[in-house]
Amino acid sequence: MDIAAVAAFVSSLPDRSHVTYSDACAGTGVRGVRVANEVGLDVTINDRSTPAYERIKRNIALNGLEERAVAYNENTNALLLQTKYDLVDIDPFGSPMPFLDAACKSVKKLLLVTATDTAPLCGAHTGGVRNYAARPLNTEYHAEMGTRILLGAVTRELGRYDKAIQPLLSYASAHFIRLIARVERGAKKADACMQRLGFIAHCFSCGHRFAFSCSDMLEMRVENKCSICGREMRIAGPLYIQAIKEKGFCEHVHEELGKRELGKKKEAMKIVHTCIHELDIPFYYEHHALCKALKIPPPPLTSLLDALHSNGFSASRTHFSDTALKTDAGIDEIKAILKGL
Ligand SMILES: C[S@@+](CC[C@H](N)C(=O)[O-])C[C@H]1O[C@@H](n2cnc3c(N)ncnc32)[C@H](O)[C@@H]1O
Ligand SMILES: [Zn+2]
Repeated sequence: MDIAAVAAFVSSLPDRSHVTYSDACAGTGVRGVRVANEVGLDVTINDRSTPAYERIKRNIALNGLEERAVAYNENTNALLLQTKYDLVDIDPFGSPMPFLDAACKSVKKLLLVTATDTAPLCGAHTGGVRNYAARPLNTEYHAEMGTRILLGAVTRELGRYDKAIQPLLSYASAHFIRLIARVERGAKKADACMQRLGFIAHCFSCGHRFAFSCSDMLEMRVENKCSICGREMRIAGPLYIQAIKEKGFCEHVHEELGKRELGKKKEAMKIVHTCIHELDIPFYYEHHALCKALKIPPPPLTSLLDALHSNGFSASRTHFSDTALKTDAGIDEIKAILKGL
């Protein structure tokens, strides 16, 4: 997936000569080696572990990439604070937060970030507030909430360097979250990007949920009584509430994946295909949770999607869960349609 995404991004650049890529927490260096080999970029492959560094050097030599790839045995932050790269990839163990400031300072065009600390990001245990300065809620759409909280943190870090983020492809599985985002310079762009941060209000009683922007929160216009059942709503955020993918980019990645030999090609193509068609709504509904609340046996998910469409709503699947849907219908409207199926 990463190689296809880097290839898709680089092919969209007007000048493709001497594009630099930094694999800043590289492990064996396989990703950087592939980016040098398959996309032709000038790569810096770094790991602070000496055995990893030795392996990176060996892998560079084995692939005859000495002219295009260089190995470093540095702390990620020391490397990224000293040098700017067009593409910066950080894939540490756990949270990327300790490296985000340096990565945001270094990056010029494309930022790739992995987080494996899904539990605090998704609200499954504490740590979200401490690590990400945001409150996640452990809802049925926690995978998306974690992804958006991470994107919110990246937006704020980049903003300090007058840079803005444009998410191109963001996805999550049970064990990790991966962000691939274009970076643009300019205080105005960074300001506009901050406007894409907001909050999600969630009612744990009836399942009603909605997103609202930060400026609404600052003006204290939030009604935290659920408009459907009257109970108190909980607030998650701040998080990124606008589109977390660019359709055209995802189509390009899908094409690149089709051309390549990969271990997990089918799985990667399925994720990207679902992302292409996924609605840009910042949460989803678990089909089984909806049916359980109504005490009805779940009809096929496709029947619900079709019924929402024929009632004039937008509805799609989501790559975050095979058994969930996104729609612009409200919880009461979804439930009414489900009851009629
Ligand atoms: C998850 S692994 C990288 C896997 C690799 N991206 C891949 O796809 O094969 C994380 C790596 O980050 C390195 N690392 C963690 N903290 C670091 C730091 N502060 N500076 C440099 N490297 C670091 C570790 O030594 C480890 O090899
Ligand atoms: Zn409610």
